[in-house]
Amino acid sequence: MRFTSALVAGALAVGASAAGKNYLGFNSGATLPDRSAKFKKDFEAEFKAAQGLIGAPGTFNSVRLYTNIQAYSKDDPIEAFEAAIDTKTSMLLGVWTSGTDNIDKEISALKKAVSKYGSKFTDLVIGISIGSEDLYRNSATGVKNKAGVGAQPETIVGFIKDFKKAFADNALSKVPVGHVDTWDVWGNATNKPVLDAIDWIGVDEYPYYENDKGNDIKNSGHLFDKAYDATIAAANGKPVWVTETGWPYTGPKWDEAVASVDNAKYYWDEVGCRKLFNKTPTFWYTLRDSNPDNKMKFAITDNLSTKPRFNLTCPTTFDTKDETSTVSSGTSTATGTSGSGSATGMPSASATSGSNGSGSGGSNGSSSNSASAAAATQTGAAASQKGSGAAFAGAAVMVGAFALF
Ligand SMILES: *[C@@H]1O[C@H](CO)[C@@H](O)[C@H](O)[C@H]1NC(C)=O
Ligand SMILES: *[C@@H]1O[C@H](CO)[C@@H](O)[C@H](O)[C@H]1NC(C)=O
Ligand SMILES: *[C@@H]1O[C@H](CO)[C@@H](O)[C@H](O)[C@H]1NC(C)=O
Ligand SMILES: *[C@@H]1O[C@H](CO)[C@@H](O)[C@H](O)[C@H]1NC(C)=O
Ligand SMILES: *[C@@H]1O[C@H](CO)[C@@H](O)[C@H](O)[C@H]1NC(C)=O
Repeated sequence: MRFTSALVAGALAVGASAAGKNYLGFNSGATLPDRSAKFKKDFEAEFKAAQGLIGAPGTFNSVRLYTNIQAYSKDDPIEAFEAAIDTKTSMLLGVWTSGTDNIDKEISALKKAVSKYGSKFTDLVIGISIGSEDLYRNSATGVKNKAGVGAQPETIVGFIKDFKKAFADNALSKVPVGHVDTWDVWGNATNKPVLDAIDWIGVDEYPYYENDKGNDIKNSGHLFDKAYDATIAAANGKPVWVTETGWPYTGPKWDEAVASVDNAKYYWDEVGCRKLFNKTPTFWYTLRDSNPDNKMKFAITDNLSTKPRFNLTCPTTFDTKDETSTVSSGTSTATGTSGSGSATGMPSASATSGSNGSGSGGSNGSSSNSASAAAATQTGAAASQKGSGAAFAGAAVMVGAFALF
């Protein structure tokens, strides 16, 4: 755990811009594993369990949501908002942007929430992601992996403008707007208009799914660092938030990657403890699995027990060497705070719609991913019908991304 001064500076810059907070949280989809809607009590149980986790290296009192819309409704605010208010949980919101020509229902649901709950709600909103992995799905790799319906950069930029316009005179006008995608997307010059339009970047990374890259658990920290550093280098000084990462505790093998409780613990230590927790805003995947189609399961606890599946307390020494960090962090350091201002950067995976394809199964790559997918799913589903597809799409995405390494 050696940090160069550049690295430390980078971390501080990001933290400072994020109002001094290096959020710790989990991803939370809009539906339960049986695909039924989550309601207030379900979210509340999650948020309380997250905050009470025994041995955690900090308080997990943030959450990343995939939609503003309550499942089973047209455009009612998701009940996670009320649960978050009651448990003082801060929120990274998400808007789904693939396979649609407008984000009107998301905007409508969010406006209703602002009217209904006022500052009790808006004070807890730490960021919003317009889109999730749309550019990956739109990329050569995404198409090859049948990741699902994506969106062109111009489309995402248009939705970002729509969102900002809709909330210009609203209490949420100062909330930093970002976009979540896979690392390789950001270095693609064609996508630069999106990078230019946002305040922060969200990145989802799953070394587990990086087949053909030597994805044995012992190499997971190195694979994570490579993708993370590439993201920071492409970010042009804007803050990078890690919106999804984790390692399954059970499920089929994926190339060299083995899902097990020991490996989930190793990944928590080598990636979470070494690189992320209390250093950069982080949304772990995950507290409760939601995607019934993903055979890989990631939940760090059973049935929302506060007793985790493995020891969450961070060790003081790590196997992974911080080789590349210096370079990239230097980059980010420079501008960390400037930019549009925001500190945040978290992405979300989302749920989208669309294709079923990826979700479960289909192609190898895709289904599993999971985590995100699951989460997303929920979202989408509720709101739009495309719902579940989207979620899966999210997962697929990740896979694809890794494949690029
Ligand atoms: C680069 O981005 C554009 C626009 O999103 C996409 O069409 C293209 O496929 C991407 N290039 C690669 C190599 O993925
Ligand atoms: C991926 O698909 C290929 C071809 O269908 C199959 O041989 C391989 O075992 C699959 N890999 C995984 C990890 O499922
Ligand atoms: C979690 O709940 C499931 C379903 O009710 C149950 O089968 C399982 O034993 C529970 N796990 C623990 C550790 O309590
Ligand atoms: C959990 O891990 C920490 C750090 O390695 C260690 O100090 C602690 O004793 C462990 N707790 C248990 C209950 O094993
Ligand atoms: C998506 O799911 C529907 C319903 O299960 C199925 O008919 C369709 O073929 C699937 N599409 C893809 C691309 O798998």
